[in-house]
Amino acid sequence: MVEQQTHPMRGERIYHQPVMVQEVLELLLTDPDGLYIDGTIGGGGHAAAILERLRDGKLIGFDGDPDAIAACRGAFREELARGSRSRIELVLGSYLLACSREDIYRRLAGQVQGILLDLGVSSHQLDEPSRGFSYRYDAPLDLRFGGTSSDQPPASALLEQLSERELADLFYRYGEERASRRIARAIVEVRRSSPIRSTGQLRAIVERCVHPRQRIDALSRVFQALRIAVNRELEQLEEFLRCMPSLLRPGGRIVVISYHSLEDRIVKRTFRTLAREVQPPLLRILTPKPLRPQQEEIRRNPRSRSAKLRAGERIVV
Ligand SMILES: C[S@@+](CC[C@H](N)C(=O)[O-])C[C@H]1O[C@@H](n2cnc3c(N)ncnc32)[C@H](O)[C@@H]1O
Repeated sequence: MVEQQTHPMRGERIYHQPVMVQEVLELLLTDPDGLYIDGTIGGGGHAAAILERLRDGKLIGFDGDPDAIAACRGAFREELARGSRSRIELVLGSYLLACSREDIYRRLAGQVQGILLDLGVSSHQLDEPSRGFSYRYDAPLDLRFGGTSSDQPPASALLEQLSERELADLFYRYGEERASRRIARAIVEVRRSSPIRSTGQLRAIVERCVHPRQRIDALSRVFQALRIAVNRELEQLEEFLRCMPSLLRPGGRIVVISYHSLEDRIVKRTFRTLAREVQPPLLRILTPKPLRPQQEEIRRNPRSRSAKLRAGERIVV
């Protein structure tokens, strides 16, 4: 069962309800005049809370989804209207641009006081039928954060191009789906006669391959696997975490919220390597165990239930 996020008073759909805001603020903000990065700004919920606490500081918000950047342009219009004095700047594109686009990297290297990554999908992406992120609505099978403006191929292209073996591996590795082979075989059979272009077609195939009681879980896992592959989510996270120490100033912090074990494992391992295996150590781990949302937050916002938050601090060398 997937709950839609609506405003408690007005009943209208909200873009995204930010998760573990108090915990993020406490761990991330160490200087109200510092430079901060929100690598996954989404609807700007965390960003608004950060901005409220900044004095002369600045926040640069990235998102690969044009809908998110448009939502933030609306949410922060007054601040943005201050032009060069604005404390927020928005960048459409992957958070990896902070490391890979030379002009951005040059500005940020060694200067950043805090980095937030709140990984995964926003509620807007899940609840907006036309985006094709959810098996609940029939839509083009896309799943790219950047939608049609993206330069990666959509999920439908992967279903067309990958071999049966590659599809099975993808569903198993990124979705931990046990019926991965059966689903891959069924996809290859169907695509011989007609291309699989919609979420509805894929849903029907998955549903035929598993027991009715396992359908919802299998659909969630298959869609998650495709989304991770299409957006190269794990590769981007790994690459960013490798470059992150070079962005932070001494004492600067990184906070990462992840929503499934594949992401959390990457964060945990990279933090451990940077804290214990490299010489000199580059990071001090601030969360020996990941923080989880309070029960009250999970009750208010069930989508927060799988969140795990890890934080680290750049060591002064
Ligand atoms: C969980 S939402 C973030 C919500 C946000 N913290 C808020 O308060 O509204 C995740 C967002 O990250 C974006 N995203 C995921 N991977 C990304 C990447 N590699 N680079 C930039 N944005 C990314 C998605 O488009 C989505 O808008």
